Amino acid sequence: MRSLIINYKAYAEGIDNGLEIAAIAKKTSKKTGVDIIVAPPLSLLPSTSRVVKSFSQSMEALEPGPFTGHITWYEIQKSGASGTLINHSENRVSIEEISRTVNVCRRVGLLSVVCIQNMDEAVAIASLNPDFIAYEPQELIGGNISVSTAKPETVREFCSFVRARSKSSPLIGAGIKTSVDVAKSVELGSDGILVASGAIKADDPAKAIFDLARPLS
Ligand code: G3P
Repeated sequence: MRSLIINYKAYAEGIDNGLEIAAIAKKTSKKTGVDIIVAPPLSLLPSTSRVVKSFSQSMEALEPGPFTGHITWYEIQKSGASGTLINHSENRVSIEEISRTVNVCRRVGLLSVVCIQNMDEAVAIASLNPDFIAYEPQELIGGNISVSTAKPETVREFCSFVRARSKSSPLIGAGIKTSVDVAKSVELGSDGILVASGAIKADDPAKAIFDLARPLS
């Protein structure tokens, strides 16, 4: 089953319409058979988790304890979420922290999605075997030219490298707006996509999410 991860980031639309988007994700997942996951801000995580599979946007490799303003696996698990993004381009952490966080996720039964920006990082992360590795070139994030259009050769290389050298599933993201972008990503070997603006800031999120999911079914 292929995956569509909808990252709300800190967009106002994601906060204002977070639960409606989760309900659309659930309905579209049922209709298309695609594994649709939402990654809302932490305050919405318990509510979206009751509606559809949900991930945190980040997590730290900390046990519950005297830490102020940090996100532990315990809080994520108690919120009902199923996993977390790690090392998103907008929230980068060291390789040591990535490794610790992936291990904590494995130990406590949360799914892990490690984001990387280039092939060097893919090589460094592959042996950690997170559940997903997501290639998102930073310069394309939030734009209208998709990673599958701008960097097809790197996407192909990334997907076959991840399949050959790790147990992780390869995902791609950045600038994905249309079903054509998604179809191309599947053709290049991806198991799914990460999308933010193309769903959260769309005029009609229900249509946008359906269009993005359809080529993954
Ligand atoms: O996590 C997904 C993201 O970074 C891609 O953003 O707006 O280019 O779909 P966007």
